[in-house]
Amino acid sequence: MDLELEDKVAVVTGASRGLGLASARALAAEGCHVVICARGEQRLAEAAQELRTASQHGATIVAVAANVAMPEGVARVIGRAVEAFGGFDILVNNVGLARLFRTFAGAARESSSSSLPFTAGKRVAG
Ligand SMILES: NC(=O)c1ccc[n+]([C@@H]2O[C@H](COP(=O)([O-])OP(=O)(O)OC[C@H]3O[C@@H](n4cnc5c(N)ncnc54)[C@H](OP(=O)(O)O)[C@@H]3O)[C@@H](O)[C@H]2O)c1
Repeated sequence: MDLELEDKVAVVTGASRGLGLASARALAAEGCHVVICARGEQRLAEAAQELRTASQHGATIVAVAANVAMPEGVARVIGRAVEAFGGFDILVNNVGLARLFRTFAGAARESSSSSLPFTAGKRVAG
């Protein structure tokens, strides 16, 4: 399926296994560059390697060890996305914390020079 996502940048939280890794795999298969995060470094590195090996589009995979339950963890993930790609287009906020989306949205706005709304289809901090 071509969802016309080639060269878009996606951030997937909680992507070292399970649904997050499956989401990252699907996005990479569509040609997205993907920033993945999780707390455990070993499994995260293995997931990143798997995604790089499987990518037929030469997708860039950036792995960030971070706890996105903490504001500094969210800031680290966003910071790496901005550093590597100048921002991101898609967020799969897979880590199940009720307050996380607000935290992620707030941190994304703070890291942006403009006040881009945090909605699907709008580039964040780019
Ligand atoms: N699987 C289902 O059937 C199902 C059904 C309904 C809802 N859900 C929800 O969907 C989400 C994913 O489920 P899953 O079954 O794929 O979970 P999973 O297999 O346990 O994977 C969770 C992923 O999130 C990471 N993670 C957990 N807490 C984190 C944190 N604070 N910061 C950064 N990364 C974190 C984990 O890595 P680390 O532990 O190394 O951080 C792992 O990569 C969860 O919110 C779950 O409640 C799942």
